[in-house]
Amino acid sequence: MYIHGKTIVVVITGGIASVKAVRICSALVQRGADVRVVMTEGACRFVTPLALQAIVRTRVISDIFAEDDASVIAHIDIADRADACVIAPATAHALASLALGLGDGMAAAALLAIGTRVPVIAAPAMNRHMWANAVVQQHVATLRARGVVIVPPTSGFLACGDEGTGRMAEPDDIVETVVHTFAHPLRGKRVIVTAGGTFERIDAVRGIANASSGKMGIALARAAQQRGADVTLIYGTVSVPLPERMTCIYTQCAKEMANAVFAHFDQADIVIMAAAVADYTVAQSVDHKMKKTNVPLSLQLVPTIDILAALGARKTHQRLIGCAAETEHVVQYAREKCVRKQCDAIIANDVRICGFGADENEVTIVTRDTEVALPRMPKTELAHRIWDIIAAEEGQ
Ligand SMILES: Cc1cc2nc3c(=O)[nH]c(=O)nc-3n(C[C@H](O)[C@H](O)[C@H](O)COP(=O)(O)O)c2cc1C
Repeated sequence: MYIHGKTIVVVITGGIASVKAVRICSALVQRGADVRVVMTEGACRFVTPLALQAIVRTRVISDIFAEDDASVIAHIDIADRADACVIAPATAHALASLALGLGDGMAAAALLAIGTRVPVIAAPAMNRHMWANAVVQQHVATLRARGVVIVPPTSGFLACGDEGTGRMAEPDDIVETVVHTFAHPLRGKRVIVTAGGTFERIDAVRGIANASSGKMGIALARAAQQRGADVTLIYGTVSVPLPERMTCIYTQCAKEMANAVFAHFDQADIVIMAAAVADYTVAQSVDHKMKKTNVPLSLQLVPTIDILAALGARKTHQRLIGCAAETEHVVQYAREKCVRKQCDAIIANDVRICGFGADENEVTIVTRDTEVALPRMPKTELAHRIWDIIAAEEGQ
């Protein structure tokens, strides 16, 4: 029932297991999905597009330059329609191509256009030595870090006569993984994530900023979107690209960020406050550029509104998750913050270990009575691990 009416793009690449893609497409069609098939040239050598077309009843596309329908550009059109994408089988070549961002051919270009906006599930299949190759594993790790769900190959008799790990997972298991992504506890939840740093104006050209890059918050927003949540990203100063097809609201200073969060809070189900919000702002900023002088300048700073505490006091059904960057007593301070600001959890990290702007982080998710430590990993991957923990409770 979860995939009924959903458009699922099945990308078939050139391995022996491509014959099993017929069963995957058939099972998805039987469950009411609108299945669109993209085949690589290699895949067309193993199984005919006609066989797939007869099952899915839509045109199978494989040649990027064919452009049979002049009203659309096929690889973009199919990407725009996708609610989810399955790459089965995923050859070593296809994994590498996607990890490196190559757009050679219909399948590769469509996959790049799909990006990570919707769930992407890949089922690798290859000879066991190919699968064990460090460079293949590296590409798999890169894709996982970007949120691609890998359905790992199983062990058994391989078409090449060898035995070992490399067989594509069973079609039923791949279909179940697709269904599961639509049944995810975050699906349909309204999520607010704040990200980046705030900028408190001093005059027309100067202000007080901080070193937040927004990487963690944006990774959290993207990961929630991939799990089917309806995400609003409220961001300040960031140094990484914003997610596509997401409501993104720019706010400059703490006050603007507070107003934007308050305006959306009542409708939200889950709020993660990952932005680095200034604790103080300039008491009286000026609109013109202040002239340089040789005498010391004092700025009077006044506290900004404590957004997290205000939300904690106001929340009804929402789950409120704050963040804490500490340099000592990380778990203890996070727990105190959790209680004081009436949060459901705090994502705490030691900025001495992973500073602002780093690509990696290690965090502890602290509630009033639990704590889960997640080891150092790329923020893109960490975001998924954090949602695994938050969503597990959401599903209960
Ligand atoms: C008989 C045969 C079987 C193959 N099986 C696989 C396979 O299971 N996995 C794989 O990664 N490559 C396999 N290959 C190699 C791919 O077909 C080749 O790397 C091709 O360039 C993949 O391109 P594609 O990913 O664009 O389809 C096989 C090749 C042949 C000739």
